[in-house]
Amino acid sequence: MTKYRITMIFEDGRSEEIEADEADTVYMAALRNKIRLMTDCLEGACATCKGQVVSGEYFMDDYSDEAITDEEMRSRKVLTCQTHAKSDCVIEFPYDSKIALKTPARSWECEILSIENVSVNVVKLDLGVRGDADAWPSFMPGQYVNIAIPEAGQNRSYSFANSPGAKEGLTFYIKILERGVMSDFLRGRAKQGDLVNIEGPFGHFYLRGQERPILMMAGGTGLAPMLSMLDQMASMETCRKPIHLLYGVNNPDEFFGIRQIESYEAKGIDLTYETISLNGSADWNGNSGHVTELLTEKLIKDNPEIYLCGPPPMIDAANAWLENIGIDLNFVYSEKFLPS
Ligand SMILES: Cc1cc2nc3c(=O)[nH]c(=O)nc-3n(C[C@H](O)[C@H](O)[C@H](O)COP(=O)(O)OP(=O)(O)OC[C@H]3O[C@@H](n4cnc5c(N)ncnc54)[C@H](O)[C@@H]3O)c2cc1C
Ligand code: FES
Repeated sequence: MTKYRITMIFEDGRSEEIEADEADTVYMAALRNKIRLMTDCLEGACATCKGQVVSGEYFMDDYSDEAITDEEMRSRKVLTCQTHAKSDCVIEFPYDSKIALKTPARSWECEILSIENVSVNVVKLDLGVRGDADAWPSFMPGQYVNIAIPEAGQNRSYSFANSPGAKEGLTFYIKILERGVMSDFLRGRAKQGDLVNIEGPFGHFYLRGQERPILMMAGGTGLAPMLSMLDQMASMETCRKPIHLLYGVNNPDEFFGIRQIESYEAKGIDLTYETISLNGSADWNGNSGHVTELLTEKLIKDNPEIYLCGPPPMIDAANAWLENIGIDLNFVYSEKFLPS
């Protein structure tokens, strides 16, 4: 029987992937993988096992109308003790992973393959997972991992910039601050061949159904998860909808990834983009200002899925603008690059 991938995402952002076939209920498949989803009756009557299907096809066995309403069914809520997958599925649960999982998040030992300056303050870090290529992290484009900083006893979160299928390396774009634990490591001590541990994947910020046009807004290294999403859409040939990317930085010499952005059209992605820099420079003739100043009513007239990633003030300003204009915030997804 065909096996489907079920990605389960918990309230704290931890995600776990399991396999299930149509004969399995999601609950049973999870249990076989030592994931104890919250349950009580196991008969579709109590609603304790309720989850939200974000993507994928499924069907449910018998259930009581008191456990799940028609409205909830329409919004793709499910009773996981009665649910069978008919395709790969992503399901979110409204409680922390520690309720269902006794094991720590997965971790991998990685080797630094390369460290490259890609702009005045951004480094591209490529990691190779040690061991079997099949054991590489499975994640959804947009998600992140925690990278442990050698000899510092601390870790920092970074969004994958590669697509999940890429096995030649895990790519991260990291802003180098004047002073910072990861920044100091990458600027001073890190070198090719060094070993670092990563743990994850985590996050509710990931590519959804692509049933609407897409509007992306990236501030600085907030471009990283957008590149992961774009790579995924290019490799899976899943997206036929127009995508518009707004990309802002503080100074023109901070831009990176422009060539990659321009390569997507040839890969069949209907992508347009605009750049903006807060400050100018002698050789900058482009837009000046905050990236949020590029938001216009025209960009949201077709009710796009909206992805926002970057510094918290950028996300707050964009959300306030979108809310004010009356956009359905259910289709707005964001990741704030909060300092640790
Ligand atoms: C979910 C998530 C995903 C993230 N993904 C990325 C990513 O893909 N790329 C990326 O570059 N960063 C990303 N970040 C931010 C990253 O985790 C670190 O916070 C950042 O790299 C600083 O780490 P550091 O160790 O160099 O500095 P720290 O030692 O953490 O900080 C040193 C000092 O700088 C301040 N500071 C921290 N961040 C900033 C900032 N951005 N601007 C100004 N001052 C700051 C701190 O408050 C502190 O005072 C992400 C954060 C989260 C929460
Ligand atoms: S456990 Fe009661 S409805 Fe699923």
